[in-house]
Amino acid sequence: MCGIIGYVGARPCKELVLSGLEHLEYRGYDSSGLVLVGEHGLDRARAVGPVKALRAVAGGVSETATAGMGHTRWATHGGVEERNAHPFLSEDGRFAVLMNGIFENYIDLRAQVTAKGHTLTSDTDTEALVHMIEEEYDGDIAETCRRIFPRLEGHFAFLAMAIDEPDRIVAARLAWPPLVVGRGEGENYIASFTPAFLEQTRMIQIVDESELVIVTADNVEFRAIADGSPREHEIERADDSIEVAAKGGYESFMLKEIHEQPTAIADTIAERFHHGELHLDGFGLSDDDLREINRVLIVGCGTALHSGLVGRYLIEEWGGVATEADVASEWRYRNGVFDPKTLVLAISQSGETADTLAAMQIAKERGARVVAVTNIMGSAIARAADGVLYTRAGLEIGVAASKTFTAQVTLMTLIALHLGAVRGHLSPEDVALIGGELRELPDLVQQLLDDKELDAQLDMLADRFCHDRFFLYLGRHLGLPICQEGALKLKEISYIPTDAYAAGEMKHGPIALLGEDTPVVAVATDSHVFEKMASNLEEVRARGAHVIAVATAGNTSIEAHAEHVLYVPRTRPELQPILAVIPLQLLAYKITGRLGLDVDRPRNLAKTVTVE
Ligand code: G6P
Repeated sequence: MCGIIGYVGARPCKELVLSGLEHLEYRGYDSSGLVLVGEHGLDRARAVGPVKALRAVAGGVSETATAGMGHTRWATHGGVEERNAHPFLSEDGRFAVLMNGIFENYIDLRAQVTAKGHTLTSDTDTEALVHMIEEEYDGDIAETCRRIFPRLEGHFAFLAMAIDEPDRIVAARLAWPPLVVGRGEGENYIASFTPAFLEQTRMIQIVDESELVIVTADNVEFRAIADGSPREHEIERADDSIEVAAKGGYESFMLKEIHEQPTAIADTIAERFHHGELHLDGFGLSDDDLREINRVLIVGCGTALHSGLVGRYLIEEWGGVATEADVASEWRYRNGVFDPKTLVLAISQSGETADTLAAMQIAKERGARVVAVTNIMGSAIARAADGVLYTRAGLEIGVAASKTFTAQVTLMTLIALHLGAVRGHLSPEDVALIGGELRELPDLVQQLLDDKELDAQLDMLADRFCHDRFFLYLGRHLGLPICQEGALKLKEISYIPTDAYAAGEMKHGPIALLGEDTPVVAVATDSHVFEKMASNLEEVRARGAHVIAVATAGNTSIEAHAEHVLYVPRTRPELQPILAVIPLQLLAYKITGRLGLDVDRPRNLAKTVTVE
């Protein structure tokens, strides 16, 4: 989940590399580094902290270099220290390497280079590679890397340079860590992701797995790792706009992305309805196959799993098929029992999460049909699945997911509707009716975001509760995964401990946590479990805790059970999760602001988690 950028061209490139790293910072930001081809050799700078820390030390690095590469790190092997930051140089200073991913056989690799007399300066897996290159270099960095590649196990994408070939960067990848080439005029880029160079060029080429790439100013050459044979890739135009990578007037990416939710939801629904009829292409399964499905298994991590938990209720309700949802990192080590009639939905915003990818691969090997739900075209999870359904939330940069969550829930709603329609559990009239209400959601979300009264209420709550030491979230049925998501938002950005519980389970444990002042956030929107929620809130109030309830506009009966009520517009109960989560996102956001913390870059977290 580190970020990589490389440049070869005619312009001085230090600034290009630094600004590319800033665009990739959401992938990892505990340290960063760059290496440029200077007049007297490879010129390196590294720093712990965000890229601005690297800027501060990069002054001493070549201003005239026209080739170089940079890296922003999320620590896996080795602590957050400058000596563990990439790039790594060989002892003779002639070679440089940086990497995203993991060499799983790093212990062996480190032992091998140490046995040959090399001194390791870091605790990382990556450093071994630069010593291997130094050891085996024969005047051709590309062929040297290609020869070494089969000895590297794991999942990775690396860039390498040799001072004797100052006009080129060599790159290679295995498994899911991505690499994309940016084609310019007399200059070329290679990076983990397009925003790294989108300000310079939109023309891209995707690097395939087990491929070697040689980037020079005038050419980009692709070769198969296996035999060095040439590979061809079309040059495509990247659709992402660079504006999305900027905050567009908002104080943070997260706030911008919270406000982009109406668009994300609308775009995810867009053109999937024609005249009230739902057309959900991409399953990779025929309608007959979908009718045969006797079980649905949803896997994901973090926020993606929460959207899957919403999907579980909807698929059971509308699709009439047994559905379960599980944490990918747990499920992959269970001896899951299923057959070709099991449909596995793997949900991942980034499409790169290692545990989700592994879970879907295991499911595929055991014969299940696997459909990916992701926001990133061509991502590893999209490529590994039998079918892909895309959320269309646009690029999300804030580490704490917001718009991708509501886009995922929207897509899960569409999937449930589709299964219901195909399997005959919903009539075409039902689908048209629910679809009509679904299409109203972007407006209702907008209404909620524009609601000045709600905003003032959230400000008041943030002021009052920001110094509390614990928040309990309670919900039932569809309200429960929304509580889980709300609790995750608060803990990940404000570092305030939270727990999210099924309200009916509260009396079996969490009730012991309640004190006179504990804030308890409840999702109590209208549904068949509303009365049950109201009773649970009475149990909370009897212990003196403060209830903050999210409820449906017009149902003022909740006011008898809660000290503070955050009203969301009325829609059918099955669609309410998309509205109910918005005040919880904003509450977490505002509390974090009061604490003076960086919402976009919470400590220890990464946007894309490509390790187990
Ligand atoms: C990380 C991110 C979360 C995300 C989770 C799963 O923990 O910080 O926001 O929900 O990974 O990521 P995915 O890309 O698979 O949805």
